[in-house]
Amino acid sequence: MRRSLVAGNWKMHGRLDANRSLIDALVAAPRPACEVAVCVPFPYLAQAQALLAGSAIALGAQDCSVHEQGAYTGEVAAGMLREFGCSHVIVGHSERRALHGETDATVAAKAERALASGLTPIVCVGETLEQREQGQTEAVIGMQLDAVLHLLGAQRSSRIVLAYEPVWAIGTGRSASAEQAQQVHAFLRARVRHHGADADALPMLYGGSVKPDNARELFAQPDIDGGLIGGASLKAADFLAIASAVPSP
Ligand code: 13P
Repeated sequence: MRRSLVAGNWKMHGRLDANRSLIDALVAAPRPACEVAVCVPFPYLAQAQALLAGSAIALGAQDCSVHEQGAYTGEVAAGMLREFGCSHVIVGHSERRALHGETDATVAAKAERALASGLTPIVCVGETLEQREQGQTEAVIGMQLDAVLHLLGAQRSSRIVLAYEPVWAIGTGRSASAEQAQQVHAFLRARVRHHGADADALPMLYGGSVKPDNARELFAQPDIDGGLIGGASLKAADFLAIASAVPSP
């Protein structure tokens, strides 16, 4: 049985008072059947760690450095995230690939660094609309995934979480259909299996305009094990409704 996970990616949103209300509401709610995590901006890690203490909700960050430590101004090391109670870190989000020039090799190195520091990397892959329309979806995400699988090897690859986030569905209100998402997830799982990693145990999340009204259908797909949620993770009621849309094991 695979673990399922619903993770909130707050992106660059939040304020101390708003974070407190949001996390308090999440902690007070009945525990969903799946694992739940919130990935908050770096400055709020300490606040979130304190507010989540004693709860079942995991803490994550949205990026980490490829380096262990050193003269890398502005970077944050995976080991630092660990010190603030993080168990997860997103790597290779399309916004970082597009806006910060992160290559497949960089993303793979970040995943490796995260694992070495005791964190679970949530590795994001996804195609642009143009790539999808040109029939390149599998070629693009296959290459993004291969970089990670090759660097990590089969054993360490079995310890990651994968997130399929079509770029055209992120923040657009236009989610992939359940069929489209399932098709890509099945492709990704086959690719992971081909590399010798434990594909059946590897959680694969869908991300891109997941809302309370489409979550259930997406999460009902056989290869979709939860979601990586952007905008809707900022509203406690929506995020909780999405988490409770994960089928019980
Ligand atoms: P939205 O849910 O806002 O579309 O964002 C998805 C995302 O990028 C999560 O990482």
